[in-house]
Amino acid sequence: MAFCRYLTWSSVVSAVLAAPPLLNQAQAGGTQRPVGTSFGVPGSSSKFDYVIIGGGTAGLTVAERLSEDPTISVAVIEAGGFYELDNGNVSQIPAFYAKNFNQTAAPETIQPLIDWEYIIEPQVGLANRRFHYSQGKTLGGSSGRNSNIFTRGTKGYYQRWADLVGDPSWAWDNILPYFKKSVDFTPPDTAKMGVDANISYDPAAYGAGGPLHVAYSNYYQPMNPGLIKGFEALNFSYQPGFSSGRMDGYGYLAVTIDPKTQIKDSSETAFLSGAFNATNFRVYKNTIAQKISVPRDHGDRRSGRNSRSLTRSPQMLMVSGIGPRDILAQHNIPVIVDRQVGQNWQDHCAFEFQYKMNVEGNAALEGDKQFLYQATEDFLQTQTGPLTNWGGDILGFEKLPSPYREALNQSALTELAELPDDQPEVEWLIASHGPQMATSSYVTFTPAILAVTSKGTIGLTSANAADNPIIDPKTFSSPTEQALGIQIYKRLQEFVNATGLTTGPELKIGPRGSDADILAGMKQTGLPWYHGVASCPMGKESDPNAVVDGKGRVFGTKGLRVVDASVIPLLAPGHSMAPVYMVAEKLADAIKKGL
Ligand SMILES: Cc1cc2nc3c(=O)[nH]c(=O)nc-3n(C[C@H](O)[C@H](O)[C@H](O)COP(=O)(O)OP(=O)(O)OC[C@H]3O[C@@H](n4cnc5c(N)ncnc54)[C@H](O)[C@@H]3O)c2cc1C
Ligand SMILES: *[C@@H]1O[C@H](CO)[C@@H](O)[C@H](O)[C@H]1NC(C)=O
Ligand SMILES: *[C@@H]1O[C@H](CO)[C@@H](O)[C@H](O)[C@H]1NC(C)=O
Ligand SMILES: *[C@@H]1O[C@H](CO)[C@@H](O)[C@H](O)[C@H]1NC(C)=O
Ligand SMILES: *[C@@H]1O[C@H](CO)[C@@H](O)[C@H](O)[C@H]1NC(C)=O
Ligand SMILES: *[C@@H]1O[C@H](CO)[C@@H](O)[C@H](O)[C@H]1NC(C)=O
Ligand SMILES: *[C@@H]1O[C@H](CO)[C@@H](O)[C@H](O)[C@H]1NC(C)=O
Ligand SMILES: *[C@@H]1O[C@H](CO)[C@@H](O)[C@H](O)[C@H]1NC(C)=O
Repeated sequence: MAFCRYLTWSSVVSAVLAAPPLLNQAQAGGTQRPVGTSFGVPGSSSKFDYVIIGGGTAGLTVAERLSEDPTISVAVIEAGGFYELDNGNVSQIPAFYAKNFNQTAAPETIQPLIDWEYIIEPQVGLANRRFHYSQGKTLGGSSGRNSNIFTRGTKGYYQRWADLVGDPSWAWDNILPYFKKSVDFTPPDTAKMGVDANISYDPAAYGAGGPLHVAYSNYYQPMNPGLIKGFEALNFSYQPGFSSGRMDGYGYLAVTIDPKTQIKDSSETAFLSGAFNATNFRVYKNTIAQKISVPRDHGDRRSGRNSRSLTRSPQMLMVSGIGPRDILAQHNIPVIVDRQVGQNWQDHCAFEFQYKMNVEGNAALEGDKQFLYQATEDFLQTQTGPLTNWGGDILGFEKLPSPYREALNQSALTELAELPDDQPEVEWLIASHGPQMATSSYVTFTPAILAVTSKGTIGLTSANAADNPIIDPKTFSSPTEQALGIQIYKRLQEFVNATGLTTGPELKIGPRGSDADILAGMKQTGLPWYHGVASCPMGKESDPNAVVDGKGRVFGTKGLRVVDASVIPLLAPGHSMAPVYMVAEKLADAIKKGL
């Protein structure tokens, strides 16, 4: 099946590259094979058993797993190129994450070669502000654009997912092997950190020998002892990491970086080089997929391999005729399957509070030339120092405790009671970030609401896949989230004070009076968090909101699956990358087994 008929080449065609080492790595055994063999070029039509639209976090994971079978041919269509080449060293060096994007969409920080430049609708829950919604447009996708934080969610959360889909294979015990399959875990190197950091972790939760490094930065943020003091003063218990299905308490963060080089790992570094080994594998980079020729389901969904494809994104489904009838009609797209694509999208809301800090941190990398010079030397010569660290090590999770909980009204409490007992409502993330061009130390406390009750939408501006869709997460719009937000602000005062790390008042929103005043301040400092899921959620066929089944198969079609963050039916507590890798491993396995 020649999906390639529907492809057009994006105007950005990458320049001829002077063969940096990255591009010389592809060799199969002792036999030489030029790396270009793995890339598609314009002008020729081709057939593949599987065409994967989007070489992102899930896409490259699935591509590598499928291409392990030498009888299967696989193509990946990716709109971007290599972030290592298109974004200097900014995407590779963990601390430069802070430069990676800017919610106010300053042109110098968007980096159009590796980003979709989405500007979202004015957010009613956030004082009608608009944001740059960063999404990776590069091999690796958003795993090539993110801050490498690795958390998995809780057992109760996955049980709820399994119950919703009516498929026990999504329960914790059944997905843990897929979580482990991706991972090669390396314990912290406290000698390189230069402190006796006493970092606990749960080795049983991780795997060894997988393609993706999960490790620790060789820098111990000097603010960590203060944060530990703060969390203990607030009665948080200690968790040995956040990969064992429990998240209540504070603990030390694992990240997806290469422990030796301290450079970012992504699905591109982890999985693409493996796929290059396969003879039946090809990447079409700098290529935008326009449309899928959707095979209808006539009741024989398990037909031949050739009819299967994978895709991402509600937009791709809608331009191809799968989506809400009214949206498709507005753009004269013939309706093939009428389902609620793009209607149940969810993202977290995070709030940023900045203070001056009395110990060293990453902020000074921005404007203190001597500090940056030393950090660069440390990174290049010993793979240590602040450049190895995205900005934080220690974070905490909780259900909002007493006395703040008592201040929530009954409707908020009723809605929160739907969450599993072990699922936290609030995350406390802290980074030693500051304002642009800072020359001294700052700390940014970033509490986030994990009990998301707002629902967002993704719509179309046109029937052309190259036009950005209409993105409206409706962040912080629900009364329950707003009620939580007010109490989070009050708890923040207690936490910040207990750390003893700050000097002076909060920089942006300052002291607040009444609850209405606090809420207005929260609307000014909140932002969507780039953890979007559930725009094509999996579920039972009878569920009007569900778009795919528990194997990622799009209802009403055959041979078409969605495998990425958009099929995750409920937003995980914490960060979404690790769940996406798990979904990709699990569904790639299902495809290989003919399920
Ligand atoms: C700035 C930022 C920070 C984040 N921080 C973290 C973090 O620290 N920890 C964490 O766990 N999660 C984090 N996340 C979230 C996490 O990275 C994502 O949930 C995850 O990577 C999504 O994976 P995906 O496969 O669904 O999509 P992506 O990885 O985004 O992949 C989609 C791919 O499809 C391509 N594509 C799309 N449309 C087309 C088309 N028509 N034709 C061709 N190609 C196309 C895109 O270019 C992209 O490469 C962050 C995300 C962002 C953006
Ligand atoms: C590619 O194949 C060679 C030979 O089989 C093997 O040694 C190498 O580890 C493979 N590389 C990856 C990244 O899988
Ligand atoms: C984002 O860009 C704007 C405009 O250039 C700037 O004022 C702001 O400080 C930037 N924010 C961050 C976090 O860098
Ligand atoms: C290390 O941390 C663990 C967990 O908090 C604690 O039980 C243990 O006593 C600590 N060990 C040392 C040597 O500080
Ligand atoms: C601290 O936590 C313990 C155990 O979870 C609980 O019994 C106690 O009441 C808490 N104390 C406060 C002050 O919240
Ligand atoms: C990153 O790239 C910039 C621009 O080329 C360079 O000045 C800087 O030294 C590099 N940093 C590191 C740590 O390699
Ligand atoms: C509960 O509190 C929230 C936030 O203050 C408010 O928006 C909502 O209307 C309240 N609900 C009821 C039923 O009082
Ligand atoms: C701030 O912290 C100090 C101790 O560090 C404590 O004595 C004081 O009560 C705290 N204040 C508030 C408002 O929590």
